[in-house]
Amino acid sequence: MKRGVFLNRLIYGLPHLMIGGQLLLHSSCRKDLMVRENDDHNTSSNNSTVDEFKTPLNIPKVINGGNLNAQYTSANLSSEFSTRALGYDQGGILGPTLSLEKGEMLNIQFTNQMGENSNIHWHGLTPPANMDGHPEDIIASGQSFRYLFKVDNRAGTYWYHPHPVHHTASQVYKGLAGMIYVRDSIEKELNLPSGDREIPLIIQDKKAIDNSLEYSVNQHEVIWGLMGDFVCINGVHQPFLSAGTSTYRLRILNGSNARTYDLGFSNDLPFHLIGSDCGLLEQSHALNALTIGPAERADILVDFSKQNMNTTVFLIDKNNYDRKLMKFVIEKEHNDNFEIPNQLSTIDKLNPESASKTRRFTLSDHGMMGRNQVHEINGKSYDKYRIDEVVKSNTTEIWEFDNTNGVVDHPMHLHGVQFQILERIGGRNQLTPSETAYKDTFLVRAGEKVKIIIPFGSDKGKYVFHCHNLEHENNGMMLQYEIT
Ligand code: C2O
Ligand code: CU
Ligand code: CU
Repeated sequence: MKRGVFLNRLIYGLPHLMIGGQLLLHSSCRKDLMVRENDDHNTSSNNSTVDEFKTPLNIPKVINGGNLNAQYTSANLSSEFSTRALGYDQGGILGPTLSLEKGEMLNIQFTNQMGENSNIHWHGLTPPANMDGHPEDIIASGQSFRYLFKVDNRAGTYWYHPHPVHHTASQVYKGLAGMIYVRDSIEKELNLPSGDREIPLIIQDKKAIDNSLEYSVNQHEVIWGLMGDFVCINGVHQPFLSAGTSTYRLRILNGSNARTYDLGFSNDLPFHLIGSDCGLLEQSHALNALTIGPAERADILVDFSKQNMNTTVFLIDKNNYDRKLMKFVIEKEHNDNFEIPNQLSTIDKLNPESASKTRRFTLSDHGMMGRNQVHEINGKSYDKYRIDEVVKSNTTEIWEFDNTNGVVDHPMHLHGVQFQILERIGGRNQLTPSETAYKDTFLVRAGEKVKIIIPFGSDKGKYVFHCHNLEHENNGMMLQYEIT
């Protein structure tokens, strides 16, 4: 959404929002926005930002199993900003990239060394319920737990992060997250760019309060989500990558708590979307801009082969005055005649007729009307003692998420399943190219209703579904379903 539209929506929303007599709240909302807008202008008009793309992009090491130890550590988010943060390793935020073949066991010994409850959720994978990192399956500080299950999912870009009740937002924000690649034979045959031409990009906005990454949110941030004032990629503000004249595969994760980006490249360099949350699309799509909400992934190919030596290309956020996120310096001669295969994968469209049931969920922003809970699903907040939906194993269902009367966007996510998006009604009124493949998270913007079709598996047990704006989730915008 363009800032202007956002402001307009906020202002037009005002009479509606003020019903609860929250006048104070609104003046602070608007002030924050204005400040942020000015900041953004400064960043894009005069490039006088702190680091100016002098730090090389950090590429997390790749593992296929072993140990993950959640701990406090120190991180250099830029040359000017070193802070106490959380990581799965010493010396920086985030964790290694876990790379697995389809059919392999995920085998991770998790140790919690950080002084508060945690666990690991394997976002997008479909493990048995006791391995999924349910918010109540807690590994206390000082304890270890072995996550062990067979990964039977499509090749794709997945990720892991903590999910303990009440602490997900703060722990992800302070640095706990990592990428998961699943590979399979279908993907291998495509000979996509690999090695140093396959680059993970975890995009996260942060804000520096008193030069620390402490997590504290005000009421405005509970409503809209925490919006940082600078953007890190793989844990570093304004990194650069020395690249060559060839095609690069960028595996992008929006690991931000709440911010949605509209990604593109400087000079409107086009790129090709080849995959989204749960693997490859059927065919690639040429794009100039790509909307990516919190927790969503995008697998893209960008062709630098026609660039002159020593050209720089920026990854930018078109949603934020073309703010520059990262610099590519094309400074190596590569000889590469890579061409994107016509057919990337096969996706059998799930037939709505095969659904045994339709469930409807209304997304609401009641807190704005003066009630205690801000964001709810069907008028309910998370309750660990309540199972909200009971689903029969091995059935297919349609779930509708209705934000028609909402004011805030909600990136909705279901655990335990990979699904297809059927339809978007209202707002953008159509599916995006990323939504033509299997997904686990999708944006339901204010004014939209989105229908998805879900093939439930045979693993029984309790899972959650929630908004992946982590401030909303933390605030209770999460329900439970049980497969029986
Ligand atoms: Cu990535 Cu329940 O979340
Ligand atoms: Cu998940
Ligand atoms: Cu939400």
